Amino acid sequence: KKGSYDHFMQKEIHEQPHSLTTTMRGRLKDSGVLLGGLKEHIKTIRRSRRVVFIGCGTSYNAALAARPFMEELTGIPVTMEVASDLLDRQGPIYREDTAVFVSQSGETADTLLALDYALENGALCVGITNTVGSTLSRRTHCGVHINAGCEIGVASTKAYTSQIVAMAMLALAVGSDQISTQARREAIISGLSSLPSNASEVLKLDAEMKELASSLIDSESLLVFGRGYNYATALEGALKVKEVALMHSEGMLAGEMKHGPLALVDENLPIIVIATRDACFSKQQSVIQQLLSRKGRLIVMCSEGDASAVCPSGSCRVIEVPDVADCLQPVINIIPLQLLAYHLTVLRGFDVDQPRNLAKSVTTQ
Ligand code: UD1
Ligand code: F6R
Repeated sequence: KKGSYDHFMQKEIHEQPHSLTTTMRGRLKDSGVLLGGLKEHIKTIRRSRRVVFIGCGTSYNAALAARPFMEELTGIPVTMEVASDLLDRQGPIYREDTAVFVSQSGETADTLLALDYALENGALCVGITNTVGSTLSRRTHCGVHINAGCEIGVASTKAYTSQIVAMAMLALAVGSDQISTQARREAIISGLSSLPSNASEVLKLDAEMKELASSLIDSESLLVFGRGYNYATALEGALKVKEVALMHSEGMLAGEMKHGPLALVDENLPIIVIATRDACFSKQQSVIQQLLSRKGRLIVMCSEGDASAVCPSGSCRVIEVPDVADCLQPVINIIPLQLLAYHLTVLRGFDVDQPRNLAKSVTTQ
């Protein structure tokens, strides 16, 4: 079933041009998006006072990537909940809330318990899942199957990018009554239709990521700095590295750098800075300058052609990725980091598809 690939994680990373296509199949129209499962609920979602995204691990990170465009396109405040933390706090959930549950398997215990809790509190419950017939799919009021195809590797890869795309379509559908964002929505729809070919393009970085991985095999830790649309990319890139390559890694909000993390910077600690083109670009340029002035060992991810704009001194290692609609950039930016985590794992001699101590579906608390 792995075909010409050595591991499922590798196969699933390389499958993304296809899985993104199947996620969007039949749902993207020139005039807007059509999500069969949500038709009857869109008006209720529009009227909600708040959207609460709930998930665990990679699915939480996908929701975090969706938060900025959900807020932008709908004008509804969006809050984030790690499922276990919502349960620990018994945090407030109201009838006027739309609770969006994100889960690849649809069987994660904490996510399902959070769903029971939100149902008891009267919220409209929406599922975003890869698994038709899963408990999540059955117990939510409505939802979207991401149709990414079965994911076997324990580390979630293609489900992450398809979850973001499914939530982009959700945001477009909920925001479709807003005249002021019509042009923006059209640009995002056009960006979505190009994503599979952008994903094929970025997968060509495979050999470069293998080479980068070989320069990092003996590192003890890897930091990843992102902000704005790509804060989620930083968290998710770091999660992939820690869970499969068994290397300590932290994703950090670049805006928090001076509030603590800067103390870690020296000439040895590798730091990935995500600095692709968006409204935060000049802030990231200044973060890079500040890290370089402390002799940081930088790997900068930037848009194609931006190497000298992000690192004029030429002292950083640069990963150039295709430029896509700013809010969809996380779908492309995570792919080189998935490849990096994959190669790092193989080179360090660990089990890629079955990382130590982990299970594909966490059905116990
Ligand atoms: C559906 C069919 C698809 C068919 C298409 C044709 C299914 C599973 N999907 O896709 O095979 O090609 O119509 O128009 O038969 N749901 C939840 N919670 C979730 C996920 C989904 O309640 O977490 C519900 C939806 O609200 C919907 C149903 O499950 O009622 C199917 O969802 P989805 O597969 O996303 O709908 P379509 O894309 O319309
Ligand atoms: C990371 C990973 C886990 C899952 C988490 C939630 O690669 O796979 O962090 O994302 O256990 O699983 P689902 O999405 O099935 O609820």
